[in-house]
This record gives sequence, structure tokens and C-alpha cells, in this order.
Amino acid sequence: MNSLSESKYDLHTPVLLAEVLRSLEIKEGGCYVDATFGAGGYTKAILEQAPNTKVIALDRDANVLPEAKALHAEYGDRFIFIQGDFGNVCNHVRFEYEGQVDGIVFDIGVSSMQLDQAERGFSFTKEAPLDMRMDQDQELSAHTVVNEYEQEQLADIIYRYGDERRSRAVARAICAAREQAPIETTVQLAEIVAKVVPKGQAKIHPATRTFQAIRIEVNQELEQLKTGLQEAAKLVGSGGIISVVTFHSTEDRIVKSYFNDLSGKEIHSNRHMPAELVASSNADFELAQNKAIAPSAEEIRANPRARSAKLRVIRRR
Ligand SMILES: C[S@@+](CC[C@H](N)C(=O)[O-])C[C@H]1O[C@@H](n2cnc3c(N)ncnc32)[C@H](O)[C@@H]1O
Repeated sequence: MNSLSESKYDLHTPVLLAEVLRSLEIKEGGCYVDATFGAGGYTKAILEQAPNTKVIALDRDANVLPEAKALHAEYGDRFIFIQGDFGNVCNHVRFEYEGQVDGIVFDIGVSSMQLDQAERGFSFTKEAPLDMRMDQDQELSAHTVVNEYEQEQLADIIYRYGDERRSRAVARAICAAREQAPIETTVQLAEIVAKVVPKGQAKIHPATRTFQAIRIEVNQELEQLKTGLQEAAKLVGSGGIISVVTFHSTEDRIVKSYFNDLSGKEIHSNRHMPAELVASSNADFELAQNKAIAPSAEEIRANPRARSAKLRVIRRR
């Protein structure tokens, strides 16, 4: 048993692990980038999948360092950890490994450890200051977004990043509350939202969508995803794979649309055929499959966090 198996490692169940590993077509001696190290679930599986594989792992959150150190102790220089944003992955990785990377994987979003560390303010179920920064050295926090953004800007963020239909009412309620006194904690914010968002039929808390939206804004997650994908496309060599797991529709749309661009998909139609998307045979990349891969019913039963996950995969020719 290694030291990781008793640590925070167990708290995070990697989502779509078998599918991600299959998608990467791990080969002996291959070089892989895990752009979102987290608890190291994917990294460890890649290192164990074939002898002499190498993993360069990134995470913007310094709290994962103990996990990274434990893996380094176990795998030595087969494993390199770099603390940084994947939106800048080429700068972190490229000079040494340009064109030599066989696969890069992204597992987008927040980790179970981040959600479980109450003081970080990601969860509305635990009283904590409004923070939500993955990188605790960055300036922008949830406190600033909630207390300083204009009402209209807040409403747009909550609508676009949270798919919250009552976004205008939520933004209005936040602005009315903060006129009395600044909103300081997660529970305060959740209560303000719960007053204007009906419970609905879904089992989720009424503040779930608003919290997701604010977290995405604080960590600039969609911008990171867009630049991260562009960087990944420069990084992988011939036959190299990019695999991306997302958890909500806005992220999945970004991945799908970028992969369609990379594979040169265009709308083709003629008199006899309805319009269809056809991949260009001249493009540098090809889709590994046309549809996103979803978790099995069994995985969702065992790990409800997996329910909205989607995996998309593309390969450089
Ligand atoms: C869902 S967890 C990954 C879990 C991991 N696949 C595992 O099996 O343990 C996402 C991780 O990505 C990190 N992350 C999110 N956005 C990032 C970014 N733009 N750059 C680097 N790391 C990021 C988060 O800090 C978090 O630790």
C-alpha cells in the first residue's frame, strides 16, 4: 500500500477513469500531460498502466502538493509536477517536450477535496468566507464578485455560467442584501438565493447553480478551457491524443466546437442529402469518436458526481 492510498486521495473518485485511460491509448515509454492533477487519480493510473510512462502534471492549487510529493517519492523522475494554469501549459511544458507529448488529459472543474475543505468557500453547505479561488495567490475572490460586480454583470454570469433561469431575481436579491451590509459567507449567500429560487423538482439545492456560476467567474474557467485546448493542440505530436472531461453543457459546447474546428468539420449538403457535418481529410486532427462518452449507470450509482460528465477525444494524425 502506498502513502497516497490513506490520504485525501481516497476522497476523490476519478470520473470516467477507465474511459479516459482507454482514450489515451497509453503506450510503453509514452509521455503524458495531466493538466488537472487534483488528487492524482488519472496520473497514478497512467503511471501504472505501462512501464516507463512519464507524466507531467499541472494544477493551479498549491493544496495538491502533498499528493504530488507522494507520487514523486513513488515514481521518481517518471513524474513531474508543475504548479500553474493549464491555460499556459505550453509555457510550462513546451520547450522540453514540444511534439513529444503522446496525450494530454483535462478533467475540468472543482475537485472533491476543494469542495470538502470548508474554509475555501466552494460549498454552500458549510459556513465559510466567500473565497472559491483554486489558486489562493490570485486576487479575485467570490467576495469581490458578490459584493462589487454590477447587478447586470452578476445576472449575466449567473445566467450564462449557471444556467439559472431566475438569474435576474438572484442578482437583484444579492444587490439588495449587500446594500444593508457586505455579504461575507457562503451560507449567507445561499440563503439569499434560496429566497428567490424555487426548490423545483430536482433534488439540488436552489443555490447550486449560482455557486457554480460564481466559481467559474472567480477562476475564469471558460477562458482557461479555451486557451488550454489551443495550447494542447500545439503540444501533442503525431498520433497524440487530447481527452477532455467536462461537467456542464457550456464547457462541453466549447470542447465540441473546438474539436470540430480542429478536425475541419464542415457542413456538407447536396440535392439528395440533408446537411451533415463532415470531417475534412486534410485536417491535422481527427475525432476519435463523433459522440461524447458518458459514464455508465453503474458509475453514476457509485459516484453521483459523475452524472453530468462527458468525455471528448481527438487525435493528431
Ligand atoms: C476535477 S479535479 C481533477 C481530479 C483528477 N483528475 C483526479 O483524478 O484526481 C480538477 C483539478 O483541476 C485543477 N484546475 C482547475 N482549473 C485549472 C487550471 N486552469 N489550471 C490548472 N489546474 C486547474 C483544480 O485545482 C483541481 O485540482
